[in-house]
Parts: sequence; C-alpha cells; structure tokens
Amino acid sequence: MKNLAQRLASILGVVAMLSVAGLTLAPTAQAQQINPTEQSVTEDALFEALQGGEKITGRVSIPDELSTGLIKPGNASWADTHTGTVRFLTILAVVGAVVVLGAFYLIRGRIKVDGGLSGIRILRFTSIERFAHWLMAGSFIVLALTGLNLVLGRTMILPWLGEGAFSTISTWGKIAHNYVGWPFMLGLILSFLVWVSHNMPNKVDAEWIAQGGGLLKKGVHPPAKKFNAGQKVIFWSVTLGGAALSFTGVMMLFPALAGTQADWQLYQLIHGIVAAGLSFIIIAHIYIGSVGMEGAFDAMGSGEVDLNWAKEHHSLWVDEVEGKTGKADGSGKAAHPAE
Ligand code: HEM
Repeated sequence: MKNLAQRLASILGVVAMLSVAGLTLAPTAQAQQINPTEQSVTEDALFEALQGGEKITGRVSIPDELSTGLIKPGNASWADTHTGTVRFLTILAVVGAVVVLGAFYLIRGRIKVDGGLSGIRILRFTSIERFAHWLMAGSFIVLALTGLNLVLGRTMILPWLGEGAFSTISTWGKIAHNYVGWPFMLGLILSFLVWVSHNMPNKVDAEWIAQGGGLLKKGVHPPAKKFNAGQKVIFWSVTLGGAALSFTGVMMLFPALAGTQADWQLYQLIHGIVAAGLSFIIIAHIYIGSVGMEGAFDAMGSGEVDLNWAKEHHSLWVDEVEGKTGKADGSGKAAHPAE
C-alpha cells in the first residue's frame, strides 16, 4: 500500500512539473511564433511571422509535400508577374488581330472569286476531315472564351455583369475549360492524322510566299496544292501550339505529375503565352475562312467548293484531283452544278 501511495505521489509530481513547465513555456512560444496547424490566424499575422523567412509550412496527411506550404512570398510576386504578362499578351493578341484584320478589310475588302462562280462544285473535304476540323475548332473556341474569362474576366467582365452572374459564368467556365480540353486533344490528333501529309513544305510554297499568297492584290493567284504556304503555317501552329497547350494543361490539371513547383509555374506561363499567340492566328484564320474570302466557308460547311474558287486558290490540287479521277470532284462521282 505504502509502495503504491509513493508511486502515485511521484507520478502526480511529474505531471505537476510538466504542467508548470508547459504553462510557463506556452505563452513565450505563442508570442514568438505562430503555429498555423493549431491556430486560426489571419494572412497578415502569417506574413508578420515570416520575419524574413522564406516560407511558412503546415502539416498534411497526404503525400503531396507541396501542399504543406501555406505562405511563400515568392509565389505572390510570381502570380503578379505571370498574370501581368499573360494579361498583356492576351489583350495584345485580341486587339492586335482586330486592328490588323480591320485594316486588311479596309484595304483589300472581301476577297472575291475573280472569274466568278462557275456553278460546278467539287469535293474539298470529306466528312471525316470536317468532323476532325469542327471537333477541334468548336472545342478550341470554348477553351479560348473560357480561358479569356479566366485571364481578363475579373477586370473586364465582372464590373458590368455584377458579382452573382459573373460568379455563375466563371464557375461553369472553369468546369468547361477543364473538361473541353479532352475533345480538343482528340480533334487535334484526328486533324493531324488526316492532314499532315498535305502540309509538308515544298518548292511551290516559296513562290506562294513571294507573291504574298495573292492576298494583297486582286487577280494574283499563285499556284498551290491542297494547302498553300499560309495554311501550312496555320496547320503547324495549331499542331505544335495545340500540343504545347495540351501538355501544359494536363500538367496543371494533375500537379502531382508536374515535377517541382518551378516546373508547374513554367507550364502555367507557357500555357498563357501559347494561348495568346494561337488566338491571334486563329482569329485571322476564322476571318479568312468566313467573311474574308468568298466561297471559302463552303469547304468546311458542305465540304464542296466552287470549281473556279478551287482553280484560283489551289490550282495544282485541282490538276491532281482531275488527273486522278478524270472528274472534277475527286470523289469518283461526277461534279455537279450548284443549285
Ligand atoms: C468559326 C470558326 C472557323 C471557321 C469558319 C473555319 C473555317 C475553315 C475553313 C473554311 C477551312 C478550309 C480552308 C480551305 O478550304 O482551304 C479551315 C481549315 C482549317 N482550320 Fe478552320 N475554321 C474555324 C475555326 C478553326 C479553329 C478554332 C481551328 C484550330 C484550333 C481551326 C483549324 C483549321 C486548320 C488547321 C485548317 C487546315 C489548314 C487551313 O486551311 O488553314 N479552324 N477552317
């Protein structure tokens, strides 16, 4: 009994000593440093606690070490630099494209079929080619608009749309941006497969470039095969730019695959810069493929173009098609007059 009483007394003594030590140490520790995993603190308090340190880290129960970082001042300045650069380039691309195309339209007007429409239609793109194009094009447009909202929405759309509506469209836009990347990649791969063989540079391209593609002067029609040099530039910009956007996009969706934080930040910057550059090119492409050139849209609409249009813009391709099939439409069926 005596033994037990002595043991209890010594245990209580140790507990008492520890409590006193804890009580006296705790305030000092609290005053000097903040423990973000135990205390609810404001961002200001965390910044104060940095005291010239490089970062404040917490504790997590998942394997991702990166997520332990709570405050790292370098990230805030990185975000400012990144956002500033991407915003500037995006505005430059969109405004630049509108100004350049507006000036082009004022100088050159709509590019017409000089010989007039023949009324004979020839098959330019099969349904597989058109499916690949519209899958890629439709998803790119969704990605571009939702991406534009991510970059410029808060400064340019929020003020006139108001918080409620802006928050709704941004939430849906972010979800769309994350998911529509997949059909875009599929469209990109399909377009690459169906068109790569027609986009290899050749001698004819030099002449096409030397004559400014015939875009600058009425009545000038440099020869071209299925795709001219300008279209090859678009094809390779879309292929390489699209691949860069896809890779960096997937890295941002799955940061655990991205390597270090510096790698992730680099991917984020590349994504923004390539998106801005490609948008400039695509705005010009959409203009030429629709209102800018008479007869062009049909190629991707119905798949058939007017024979005179084809002879003026892709004379060597028409020769090839007629030579191969003995008929104008290249499909093995006779070309037919348009209704
Ligand atoms: C409303 C939007 C668009 C329209 C009206 C349009 C129209 C066209 C047309 C008419 C052609 C065939 C030109 C020819 O017969 O020679 C074409 C080709 C092509 N389009 Fe589009 N397009 C659009 C959006 C896009 C987008 C967003 C992309 C890429 C992300 C794209 C990529 C391509 C490529 C790579 C080609 C083949 C190369 C070339 O002709 O430049 N298009 N498009």
